[in-house]
Amino acid sequence: MSRTILVTGGGTGIGRACAHHFAAQGEQVIVTGRRPGPLAEAAAHDGVRALECDHTDPAALTRLLAALPERIDVLVNNAGGNTDFDADGEQDLAAYARDFRANLDANLVGAALTTRALDGRLAAGGAVVHIGSIAADRGAGSYGAAKAGLAAWNTDLAAALGPRDVTANVVSPGYVAGTEFFRDRLSADRRTGLVAATALGRAGVPADVAGAVAFLASPAARHITGQVLNVNGGAHHTR
Ligand SMILES: NC(=O)c1ccc[n+]([C@@H]2O[C@H](COP(=O)([O-])OP(=O)(O)OC[C@H]3O[C@@H](n4cnc5c(N)ncnc54)[C@H](OP(=O)(O)O)[C@@H]3O)[C@@H](O)[C@H]2O)c1
Repeated sequence: MSRTILVTGGGTGIGRACAHHFAAQGEQVIVTGRRPGPLAEAAAHDGVRALECDHTDPAALTRLLAALPERIDVLVNNAGGNTDFDADGEQDLAAYARDFRANLDANLVGAALTTRALDGRLAAGGAVVHIGSIAADRGAGSYGAAKAGLAAWNTDLAAALGPRDVTANVVSPGYVAGTEFFRDRLSADRRTGLVAATALGRAGVPADVAGAVAFLASPAARHITGQVLNVNGGAHHTR
């Protein structure tokens, strides 16, 4: 029986690769995002259903619920990114507060709200997988703080969902090329440095992350919960 899988931010990059992976396995996949353009593209080419939603907005999430099936087997909280790339450069304290909160909203509050909204629909045997970041360990201002918070919050989520046989884990990528994450602002030197930091000598690609997400959502991973799985080519080591 095919599963129903929601991939937030699934119109581009890592989310789109996750959605593509699941759809290719015959799963029913729904992707979300704020911009109609990428969603239409994904719906036309990836065999997925696409719905507009800003995951930081409770009202938008309530509207999304009305359009979703009653049962969700897998939730991939992928929507996010470093909102500092879109900051206007204002330096005063009010701007600092706004920009700091923007990263917390985009990468932590959005995932928490989405999971809360879907809580009653998460089916036994299901999985929640969040996309974290190497920035949680290496830092990157409020973006890294938000991703670290996501992993910390997931610990409680795993405990809450475990008795219902729903797992909750974080996939934490290093540098992944071929997404809109860096806008057009990644310098050649910085890119070279990010690749050189890996043991494998290459950037990640969205399919690398999708493979890890698919594993955590698979029957092979039913005793894995509350964990962070690093997918970074060896750029950050853990024991
Ligand atoms: N690329 C990397 O090197 C890297 C490394 C570590 C972690 N990550 C994480 O991986 C995830 C995916 O990023 P990516 O690299 O694939 O970049 P991306 O191509 O920019 O994908 C982010 C997606 O999330 C959507 N999104 C952002 N905020 C949203 C919101 N509030 N509501 C709904 N959708 C939202 C975007 O669509 P709209 O703008 O249309 O809403 C976009 O489709 C992010 O959580 C990011 O932090 C990326």
